[in-house]
Amino acid sequence: MTFHISNRRKIITVDAGISELQNILKDISKEEIDYNSIKEEILRVHEATVRYEAGAAYNCKNSTEHFLKALLYQKDQETKEHAERMTVISRNIGAKMNLNEDILDSLALLSALHDIGKIGISDRILKKPGKLTEQEWNVMKKHPEIGYRLAQYYNEFSHIAEYILYHHERWDGKGYPIGLKGEQIPLASRIIAVVDAYDAMTSDRVYRKALKKEEAIDEVLRNAGTQFDKEIVTIFVDLI
Ligand SMILES: [Fe+2]
Ligand SMILES: [Fe+2]
Repeated sequence: MTFHISNRRKIITVDAGISELQNILKDISKEEIDYNSIKEEILRVHEATVRYEAGAAYNCKNSTEHFLKALLYQKDQETKEHAERMTVISRNIGAKMNLNEDILDSLALLSALHDIGKIGISDRILKKPGKLTEQEWNVMKKHPEIGYRLAQYYNEFSHIAEYILYHHERWDGKGYPIGLKGEQIPLASRIIAVVDAYDAMTSDRVYRKALKKEEAIDEVLRNAGTQFDKEIVTIFVDLI
């Protein structure tokens, strides 16, 4: 996707790759996709993005990121604030582990885009207030793979594609989509898994109230060594 915005004359030419985006979504989620609403949604957010880019002191490199984030925030209950809190915590964990600047930047990007694949899941499933059926759950579990394909498609995000793919893997091998175990799971994905779970627990959702900070920390600690990497949990609890 490329955006060309001439600042002086406010002329915007967009080669947004909208049809490619739709093709990726169609290709992966064969069922449970409402193509028309997705197309409308993509176009609406796309127009808003272009308007924003034209009006703001823009940075072309960030246009795609802005566009994808806007799509996700519209679609999912995850918010900008959730992504921003995750960015701070995951960067701090990474810094504590002496990871280099490149990986810290990847963690920030991953905080914002780990669930980008949810734009390919139908609202009927994504926003269902009750429990998902087994079949619906199987569709939901495709979001890491959809996100992986989307990230691979854009040059500026291909370096985090694998991290997106594995953000729901578990330390004990009982996660999805592959069932990777322990250090087979990329470090960035292991960090994001802890931070994402904690932040989700401490935020209100339609179907439940937020846990208190202490309760959420207890829950993360309880799952250290099974769901989460123990070493990361230790650093996380120290920081929080
Ligand atoms: Fe996710
Ligand atoms: Fe999340």
